[in-house]
Amino acid sequence: MNVLYFKSKEDGSIKGAELIIEGIKQNKNLVLGLATGSTPEQMYNYITSNYKNKDVSFKDVKTFNLDEYVGLKNEDENQSYRYFMDKNLFNHIDINKENINFPINFSETNLKPDYSYYDELIAKAGGIDIQILGIGNNGHIAFNEPGSKIGSKTRLIDLAESTIQANSRFFKDINDVPKKAVSMGIDTIIKAKKIILLAFGDSKKEALTKLIYAKSYDENWPCTALWNHKDLTIITDIEF
Ligand code: PGA
Repeated sequence: MNVLYFKSKEDGSIKGAELIIEGIKQNKNLVLGLATGSTPEQMYNYITSNYKNKDVSFKDVKTFNLDEYVGLKNEDENQSYRYFMDKNLFNHIDINKENINFPINFSETNLKPDYSYYDELIAKAGGIDIQILGIGNNGHIAFNEPGSKIGSKTRLIDLAESTIQANSRFFKDINDVPKKAVSMGIDTIIKAKKIILLAFGDSKKEALTKLIYAKSYDENWPCTALWNHKDLTIITDIEF
């Protein structure tokens, strides 16, 4: 595990963007796992400004997003993760829209417990080369909430109360926050060849501490699944 400390979220976001751009320059067919939320937003802004300088092309890059809400009210569809990604990244780069993957469409109503077809799709693409991750205050990675099994695959998830609370800042009313999502599993995430985890702000300190000092997987802190990953870079403004 490689922990990179930065003075600010801005500096850390630039580093994250540089690592992605470098990855694409080394492999134009890169398979990229992407995260949403306030953590990676600035990083995507740096990527799109580099793209404007014609520094990098996403033409042959494939992306797999970590998760997506289900059960959004119609007027909240701009809270979908697909909307977030279009707005912050996809609409500004030359990615082939057919190469963009989400585990589910946010408007899907016919739900099932198992979405492991997504894991198969990732494997067919050759596996994820670089996976971007945020981390929840409760230690979740993607929407693998406390209690998730180390071998879990992509599936329908009931969001933890703490996640619903944390995400309510984006909604008018906490009752509008979706209660369910489809998320890549822990097993899917740890299979990525390289993982870049971003964590900014003191609210992430407890979860990040659990990961940094973990000696085995602790279901209460799903982030600890990364403790022995062979290529994990943590970008943070939290001092340890
Ligand atoms: P945030 O969420 O980036 O909005 O803090 C991260 C997460 O819950 O994984």
